[in-house]
Amino acid sequence: MLKKKIKGENILSSLFNVRLNVALTFNVKPESQTFPEEVSPNLNLASANAEKAVDTYAEWDTWDTINAVKEAIECFHDVTLVEADLSAFTKLKEINPDIVFNIAEGFSGVSREAQIPAILEMLQIPYTGSDALTLATCLDKARTKEILSYYKIPNAKFIIAYNLDLVRNNDLKFPLIVKPISEGSSKGIFSSSFVKDQTELTKEVERILDEYNQPALIEEFLPGREFTVAVLGNGSEAEVLPIVEINYNDFPKDFIPIYSYEAKWILDTKENPLDVFSCPANISGELEEKIKDISLRTFNTLRCRDWSRIDIRLDEKGEPNIIEINPLPGILPNPEENSCFPKAARTGGLNYSDMINKVLYVAAKRQKLI
Ligand SMILES: Nc1ncnc2c1ncn2[C@@H]1O[C@H](COP(=O)(O)OP(=O)(O)O)[C@@H](O)[C@H]1O
Ligand SMILES: [Mg+2]
Repeated sequence: MLKKKIKGENILSSLFNVRLNVALTFNVKPESQTFPEEVSPNLNLASANAEKAVDTYAEWDTWDTINAVKEAIECFHDVTLVEADLSAFTKLKEINPDIVFNIAEGFSGVSREAQIPAILEMLQIPYTGSDALTLATCLDKARTKEILSYYKIPNAKFIIAYNLDLVRNNDLKFPLIVKPISEGSSKGIFSSSFVKDQTELTKEVERILDEYNQPALIEEFLPGREFTVAVLGNGSEAEVLPIVEINYNDFPKDFIPIYSYEAKWILDTKENPLDVFSCPANISGELEEKIKDISLRTFNTLRCRDWSRIDIRLDEKGEPNIIEINPLPGILPNPEENSCFPKAARTGGLNYSDMINKVLYVAAKRQKLI
């Protein structure tokens, strides 16, 4: 099944002793939903319809990203693009690639990120990244927190609001943050998600229940510094790339310090870049060790594979807590677009192409293809 040997091109080429047939699975953002041109840069996005319109496809990739990943893999392998739509099963069955490089966020439903991995398991085709179980679990931030809590990995105290009953009757301490239970790329997280009293809380939970048609996750607010951590590899060879800190100093004075939809897609743009990230984070050796330790424990506890990006914030005592795990991390190729996994990789000495090929390498090695 594995094809001819490849010639050495750069350091990574020595990793691959074979040329693989790789299928790249993806979901592409519709042209009309390219951000942020259509959205005026203001902070009044809390109105229902505005949100529905702006963040529907926030998780999907643009052709820039898909082509950048394709070009990176093509340095060493043959690549076929497979859109993760309703025809994906048939196409993958026909192509029968040696391995799939999976960046598909999925079509619809709460298991959407798990759909391509589940199809590939059925077809017995190896693929990069976490399996269906881990992808579905991590997309559900509450289920993830239940698992973390079982293993005593610190995370903010929380409840799940299936309706408004618990909203009026719980022992969480304000301020709180309210988010949809299973979304990514700041979908549903706006400045208004930070709530200081019962009235604001009720309004936000109603908004999530109505507009996102799913339960709301209500968490105590972690007031400390925020970090995001890229993990690459498996088992004892999993490595933590240089830690990224998210700084809020450059945002408007009255801005709530959360990495919200406004922060990610509206205030910090290619045209008007803000100094949001420091990498490597300027932290003590002791804090660095704690963050690395909690990141690897989280990666292994959720049975992540090959790569993931883990969001972390310090609590009032300065201890790292897990916010969420992204087993399919964002990978915008243009450094000016401030995508955190590629940023951490670059600081760690891996350019975009190295990073993608390293993911492919650890996945191929894990599945004994090389
Ligand atoms: N419990 C919390 N305490 C403080 N800030 C939080 C908390 N949960 C989320 N945030 C803020 O909201 C941002 C987005 O939340 P996150 O769960 O990571 O959603 P997304 O999937 O959109 O990245 C975080 O990066 C962080 O700034
Ligand atoms: Mg996040």
